Amino acid sequence: MINPADYSLADFYYSETNDPTCPPPEFTAWREAGAWAMSLMEPALHGPAIPRVSIYRAGHDQKVINLSSYNYMGMAHHPEVIEAAKQALDKYGVGACGSPLLSGLSDLHRELEVKLAAFLGREAVMLYNSGFGAAMGALAGMLRKGDTAILDAKCHLCAMDGASLSKAKRVFFDHNSAASLEEALSKSEGQRRLVVLEGVYSMDGDVADLPALLEVTRRHKASVFIDEAHSLLVYGKHGRGVAEHFEAEADIAVMFGTFSKSFAGVGGFVAAKKELVDYLRYYSNPYGFSCALPPSVVAALLKVLEIFQRDDSLQKRLWDNTHYYRSQLLQMGVNIGESTSQVVPIVIGSNRLLLYQLCHEMNEKGLFLAPVDYPSVPEGQLRFRSAITAAHTREDLDEALQIIEDTVVKRLKEQG
Ligand SMILES: Cc1ncc(COP(=O)(O)O)c(C=O)c1O
Repeated sequence: MINPADYSLADFYYSETNDPTCPPPEFTAWREAGAWAMSLMEPALHGPAIPRVSIYRAGHDQKVINLSSYNYMGMAHHPEVIEAAKQALDKYGVGACGSPLLSGLSDLHRELEVKLAAFLGREAVMLYNSGFGAAMGALAGMLRKGDTAILDAKCHLCAMDGASLSKAKRVFFDHNSAASLEEALSKSEGQRRLVVLEGVYSMDGDVADLPALLEVTRRHKASVFIDEAHSLLVYGKHGRGVAEHFEAEADIAVMFGTFSKSFAGVGGFVAAKKELVDYLRYYSNPYGFSCALPPSVVAALLKVLEIFQRDDSLQKRLWDNTHYYRSQLLQMGVNIGESTSQVVPIVIGSNRLLLYQLCHEMNEKGLFLAPVDYPSVPEGQLRFRSAITAAHTREDLDEALQIIEDTVVKRLKEQG
């Protein structure tokens, strides 16, 4: 009998079957033996992704405090956002019904491109129907065989996949290390290079050390692509992200962001100089060969941008909540790694069985936190990852913290 805790998803990538449509039988056996742990994946939410929600998990409905959704500005259930989407649904119907190049965009899509470009202080913006597709497609649209993509080792898979797809050489530098970036750039002198960074790193919640990294890229005259997925609206006086926070926007050639986090919707965008955006519209396949966002989603995104620009309390509420939650966790002795943002990991170590046991326990006590296992994070740093939002109340956070204390902190103390 297979012990599911002895294996991870990293063990079943390759298969000895002679047909690619037949996954490794060991994976199926592992998945069945670990059904108790796997039941924690893909929980069904019975309602919007807001701080209090009911989820169907492990065979029953459970009312939970939600620390797992990236609804950073609390826009997932904002009445004005919902109303804007409803009106667009009435006027434009359900879908865009085709790719932007051949079947077109609505006037709302164009309005969002223009407003977002003005908000970000960039010449142009293009919209994609997925954040993942935007980063992957933009990188694959720019990089060519013979180029070198130099990525931070902790970049999101969408950037890694985009670089692979482009057939450029992929080089990774040590996470946030200016010295390692310097070495990578020195070794690729004379080639077309693109350095790929993230504003807030998604698994650790730490922030790109832009002052040190950009000093290196400037010296080597290398262009920079930044993924501001988790930092858009959250960082910077105006919410333009970590590059704004460090007053470094002039050093970033391409900014990428998603609408699935602070905007509480779906989709992504690339913001850059106009000639690059005009080029990418034809050479970035997830844009040109995939359906445009539904107009109702675009209307909702426009409304979120409007609300954010008129309500300067949102960012403050998010940061007040973040500071409170983080300081309480630290007081309890929880290992939050290098996080300095609203993405706060709770690192428990290498005990996989404990990870899933604690997740079940927290769920039963009323807290929705997802387990993050290897290979998404290093084997010795399995964790839960909390996402703090402007919509959480102090009561929500206190209740969540109490559950963390009664489960994670208690168990880790017992284990010394
Ligand atoms: C850093 C980062 N970039 C890109 C993405 C992809 O964005 P989306 O989920 O909107 O496709 C994610 C998703 O979580 C992410 O964390």
